[in-house]
Order: sequence, then structure tokens, then C-alpha cells
Amino acid sequence: MFHYLWNLVPESTKILLRGDYNYCSARFIDRPRDWLALQTQRLLGKNFLNWYARRLDQAANQVSTGEGGKHLKAHEMMKTGREDLEVAKRFGLKPEHSLFEFGTGFGRSAQHFISYLKKKQYCGNDISKGRVRQMTEYFELIGLSNKEPEILVTADNTFDWLNGRKFDYVWTMAVLSHMPDEDVVAFFKNARKIMHENSTLLALDTHIEGYNDVFRYNAKDWFRPPEWYCDAIESVGLVAQNATDKMVAGAGSQNVGHPIGSKGMKFSSHLVAATLK
Ligand SMILES: C[S@@+](CC[C@H](N)C(=O)[O-])C[C@H]1O[C@@H](n2cnc3c(N)ncnc32)[C@H](O)[C@@H]1O
Repeated sequence: MFHYLWNLVPESTKILLRGDYNYCSARFIDRPRDWLALQTQRLLGKNFLNWYARRLDQAANQVSTGEGGKHLKAHEMMKTGREDLEVAKRFGLKPEHSLFEFGTGFGRSAQHFISYLKKKQYCGNDISKGRVRQMTEYFELIGLSNKEPEILVTADNTFDWLNGRKFDYVWTMAVLSHMPDEDVVAFFKNARKIMHENSTLLALDTHIEGYNDVFRYNAKDWFRPPEWYCDAIESVGLVAQNATDKMVAGAGSQNVGHPIGSKGMKFSSHLVAATLK
């Protein structure tokens, strides 16, 4: 009945109702629910990272312990990520180098970095214990555990949990767009702690084409142009480079190519690099 009535509503009215979103339910149910949960957590003294980690864990824990390997092996997303390794190689990554990945997710890119690098040269972190658990089960299933990757579950962006260790490369993809502005700046500032004078930090993310400012799409997604990231990098005394021309075809967000919202906002991927000098 509802669908029948909804089909009678003119498209122009539906667009007016959807606003920036693809679905009315996203605008009127999902987003307000997220905002409410986020503000409630704030009142309880929790920060954005605590809220987001909890949200991701609730989803990741739908897959039971022991099932993560099989689950991820069948997942289309895990068939991607090879191009990310090629991007890092363009910046000189060799098997003997060490690489730290900020925000591993389910190990989509990590699987390729770990295969390529020598034993114990890969280290990564994520805020979601559930995601890290699934990823670890997946690495066991596909025989990557013998490379002894080190994965940390972390609760802040301080990098103090690495006790001053330095890495040749720092990689992050599709993570900064899920962090508030001040956390992104803190990430760049603190990443200095794990960089030596020849380290390269590579940050791949997504922006909205033709939009030159920060766009907060919902409670957990911020789209920022590469220039914003370069300014943030320079503000903490690192040297920034917009290196989007060094991207490899196929690398970047899986969302690229899918316009969002009734305004048809289009995503593009970008790559920024940071060095100490
Ligand atoms: C969209 S996924 C991307 C995962 C992976 N980098 C990839 O390319 O497939 C974002 C991931 O970043 C993690 N994340 C978000 N904020 C983080 C933070 N402050 N520190 C570490 N990981 C974070 C999330 O838990 C999530 O797994």
C-alpha cells in the first residue's frame, strides 16, 4: 500500500524530500538516529572515535568468531586493493621496507601489502576490534599469518602505542574521511612520531567533484578537497604534495562513480603525500 502511494508522488517532490540523500529514509530515519546516538555518547563523556568504533563493532560482530575468514573470502570487496600496493610502489616501496597502515578495515589493501613485504614488515591499526578479529581470521585462512603482520586495536590517534617505532611508509585510505577535522590534524601531527627523515606518508581519500570546501555528508562522512589535506599537513610542519597524478587506475574509493544525493554529487579519489622535509 505504502509503495503504491509512494509511486504516485511526482519525482520532483521526491527529490525535494530526499534533499542531499539518495533515500528519504536516510534523511529522516538513519541520519537523525546517528546524530542522536552521537550526541548521547558525547553527554556520556565519549568522543567521536568511541562512538564510531562501537557502531562498526556492532556490525562486524554480526559475523561470529571463527567465521570471519570464510566470510571475507567470499566478499567482493576483498577482491580489490591490489592497485593500492601499486600506488605505494610508485613511491618506491620495496619488500624490505616497513609500512604502517592507519585504519586497516578488513585488510582489503593489507592483504596485498603483507604478501609483498618481507616478514614482520607490516603493521597496522584499527579502532574496530570486530573488524580486526575478522581480518586476522581471514589472514589465517589464506596463509598470510606466517608473514607475522602486527595489527593493533587502538582507542586514540596519538601513535604513542608504537613506542617511538619508525616506519619507511605510512599508508591510509578511506579513513580520514571518517574523522572530524581536529582528529585529522592530530593524525598528521602525531604521525610525525613514526616517521624518519626519509619516510613517506600516503593518504588516499575521496572528495566531491567541484566542491572546494569541507562537506559533512552525515554523522560519519566528511568529504574534503586534496587542498584541505595539504593545508592540514603543512600546518603541522610536514611537507605536502598533491600526488593525485600518481594514482593507479582502479585505486581509490569503491564509491567513486556512484553519484550521491538527489543533486548527483560525484565522488573523485585523490592522493596526498607528506614527508618530513
Ligand atoms: C572505509 S574503511 C577503510 C578500510 C581500509 N583502509 C580500506 O581501504 O579498505 C575505514 C576504516 O577506518 C577505521 N578507522 C576510522 N577511524 C579510525 C582511527 N581514528 N584510527 C584507526 N582506524 C580508524 C574504521 O574502523 C574502518 O575500519
